[in-house]
Order: sequence, then C-alpha cells, then structure tokens
Amino acid sequence: MEVIAITNQKGGTGKTTSVLGIGSALIRKGKRVLFIDLDPQSNLTRGLGMKHVFLTSADFMTGKDKCIFTSKAGNNSLIPANDSLYTKESELMSHSALPQNLLKKALAKVKDQFDYILIDCPPALGMYTINALIAADTFYIPMQAGFFSLEGLNKVLQVTEQVRELNRDLKFGGVFITRLHPNDRRIIAKNIISSIKKTLGRKFLNAFIREDVSADESQIRGKLLHDYAPGSRIMEDYTRLSTIIEQS
Ligand SMILES: Nc1ncnc2c1ncn2[C@@H]1O[C@H](COP(=O)(O)OP(=O)(O)O)[C@@H](O)[C@H]1O
Ligand SMILES: [Mg+2]
Repeated sequence: MEVIAITNQKGGTGKTTSVLGIGSALIRKGKRVLFIDLDPQSNLTRGLGMKHVFLTSADFMTGKDKCIFTSKAGNNSLIPANDSLYTKESELMSHSALPQNLLKKALAKVKDQFDYILIDCPPALGMYTINALIAADTFYIPMQAGFFSLEGLNKVLQVTEQVRELNRDLKFGGVFITRLHPNDRRIIAKNIISSIKKTLGRKFLNAFIREDVSADESQIRGKLLHDYAPGSRIMEDYTRLSTIIEQS
C-alpha cells in the first residue's frame, strides 16, 4: 500500500490529469485505487463523473463515515470534494490541536483496502496540501512543458522540504513533464534538460506526458482514460509513468 500526493503550488500543471492518468493505468493493471480530491475546485471529482457531492474529503478528515464512494464497476473509489472545502479549511484548524494530521489519521482506518491512494492537491500550500504531504509516503511534481522553470521548481522543493520536517519519512518520487508538444521535446532537451538533470539527477523522471485531447475529453465525460481512450498516447505515457512509480 502506498499513499501518493501529486502536488505543485502552481495551477494548471497537470496535477488532476496526472492523478486520473496514473490511477487509470494502475486500475488497468488490477490495482485497487482510492482517489482523494483535496481541491475545492473539484476537478478530480467531476473528472470521475461525480456531480452531487454531500460528503467530502473535509468531512472525511474530521472523522465522518461514508465519505468513500465506490464506482459501479467497483474498481475504483473516491473521496470527493466540492466548493465547501473553501470554508471548511479554517474549520479544520479549530477541529484539532494538530490539524495537519487529520487526513493521515482518517486514512489509517481504511488504508488496507487499497493498493494505491492518490491524492490530488489544490494549487496552494494550505492546510489541504500539508495534510496530503503528511499522509503521503511519496510525492510527485508534475510540471508543464512550456512553463518549466528551475525557479518554479526550486520554490516547490523548498516548500516540500519544510513539510518534510513534519513527515521525515516522506519520499520525493520525482518531477515529470506534462503537456509535451512534439516541438517542445527538442527545445527542452537543448535548453534545460541538462541543468534540470544536474539539479534533480534520477528524480527527473524519464516519463514525458504528451499533449492529447483525450485528457480534456475523458474528464468532461467523467470517464477514466483506460475506459475512454485505452489506445491513446496519453494512456501510453501514464502507463509508463505508473510503472516507474510501481518500481520505485
Ligand atoms: N497531457 C495533456 N494533454 C492535453 N491537455 C492536458 C494534458 N494535461 C492536462 N491537460 C489539460 O490542462 C488543463 C490543466 O490540467 P489539470 O490537470 O487540471 O492541472 P492542475 O490540476 O494542475 O490545475 C486541463 O484542462 C487539462 O484537461
Ligand atoms: Mg487540479
């Protein structure tokens, strides 16, 4: 059993798409996957086709039962979000003397039912992201190809380093590039790959997620990639990434 957080304080770097893509690849391999949506924008929840949400990840964190919803097919489960997470963030702070540990504590009871727990973080370093990084065994950082900067990466790494003081066992899985255009590959290779590799070494993962309309389409239809577009290149790329994750 492994708890994985996908995080980056920047929005639109492919966090939600990667949670869905990695999850889809793992489910296709027969793994039991629990998705957790910690983003008030609820893109993960919608991407899994869930519309009316009454119990959320914030409720789960405060110890409520029945917050885990299992798909009809039974091969994946979700702890959903809705926009009530915005207001509940401050409530969590007063719920416990150690509000940063709420998710970890709640997950301890259900962990064993799953092979992988994938947490989608909001684009901010608030209470939700901190909870995710404390509950997680490993975290991964997706970065969007065109906007990749060492400066941005260093910022993310600084923050996670601070959280590591609270979770000494937290492993850094690595950085991977998302939304890669065919033309980007050459530019990236020439300009920054060497400096990124110097900084990150093996933590710069050899898994590039290419640009593919199936990303948007599958989420609009509320279907997982292995179901909606099993032969797509984005499915191929996330399958490759999921293998790296399984082996690390
Ligand atoms: N590989 C990809 N190909 C095409 N579109 C993508 C890809 N990855 C993400 N997107 C799209 O980019 C937008 C932002 O991605 P998203 O995963 O929601 O980022 P984040 O969760 O970090 O904000 C979404 O509309 C998503 O569908
Ligand atoms: Mg998102």
